[in-house]
Amino acid sequence: MKFTRFFNSIIAITLIAFFVSSCSSTETTQKEETSKITPTGLDPFAQNELLGRGINLGNSLEAPTEGEWGMVLEEKFFKLISEAGFNSVRIPIKWSAHASTSPPYKIDEDFFLRIDWIVEMAKKYRLAAIFNMHHFDEIFEEPKTNKERFLALWEQISERYKYLPKEFLFEPLNEPHANLTSDIWNNYLADAIKIIRITNPGRTIIINSAEWGGAGSVPKLVIPKKEENVIVSFHFYEPFHFTHQGTEWNKSSDDWLGLTWSGTDDEIAFINERMDIVTNWAKEHNRPINIGEFGCYSRADMKSRIVWTTHIAQVQAPSRDFSWNYWEFGAGFGIYDRDSSVWREKLLKALIP
Ligand code: BGC
Repeated sequence: MKFTRFFNSIIAITLIAFFVSSCSSTETTQKEETSKITPTGLDPFAQNELLGRGINLGNSLEAPTEGEWGMVLEEKFFKLISEAGFNSVRIPIKWSAHASTSPPYKIDEDFFLRIDWIVEMAKKYRLAAIFNMHHFDEIFEEPKTNKERFLALWEQISERYKYLPKEFLFEPLNEPHANLTSDIWNNYLADAIKIIRITNPGRTIIINSAEWGGAGSVPKLVIPKKEENVIVSFHFYEPFHFTHQGTEWNKSSDDWLGLTWSGTDDEIAFINERMDIVTNWAKEHNRPINIGEFGCYSRADMKSRIVWTTHIAQVQAPSRDFSWNYWEFGAGFGIYDRDSSVWREKLLKALIP
């Protein structure tokens, strides 16, 4: 009898222990799973606030190889950007230069590791980050031939970064243009979103319109209706001859040298007219807007650059609730002088007063 009772107690204790341990392990598993579930149901307008005032880390990872255009990203850039008061970084990335050209179009692991480091930096310095696909030149020339590769690249990027928090956003393609027309782009975009959504149901996606992503092409954008978690991004370099004077990659842009911008009524009216195209579209479609790039090249006079930049960042964008990412940190449009390791203070103040 005594033995039976003793035996029963042993069984009871074992059962209780098993129950407790299985409960706690279920709890752990659930916790782990919860922390891995991609955030769904995000408000894209709140997400756009996270982007707030940001900057492009241009001329580094969208070059054929990092460093080829003179910029190699360093930890101190992220620190400086964060301490200056920026909220986000946009990372232009030329994935197509780091992946095989035949199926399954595998992205190089070393390159992924470099992007993992960016993730670490953005987290460490509390910056939201946009990962885009930049300079996929082949798809602009021959969309059909490159569509499969485009989608395969996004499949891999999405899989790799599916557990990142909501502060990381994906931008399928920078400035679609040439043979990748609005109609074709609307189509490819829908397919890219489908691919991203398989692994990232809650990821906020940033969408650039065709025709170089300018204000005028935003109304041509067709976003799948059920897609709520998106931000629309356009690029603003107007008047183009002023902002791009002396750019080495625009033929005859030396002829534009000397153009100034002082914010006259006419100059502002022109900018309002362009910006209104986007504002009106955004209201009609209820979409948040980001200016993914805007900036003025270093060969324009500094005073004009400051007045124009101040006008976009401090007047246009806030009055329209647009978030923005200035083009760019430390190269030809740069607000940071890498040779002397100092901010170009007046340009920085034009952005973050
Ligand atoms: C391009 C850069 C260029 C910038 C301003 C970006 O989208 O990738 O090469 O400097 O626009 O034109």
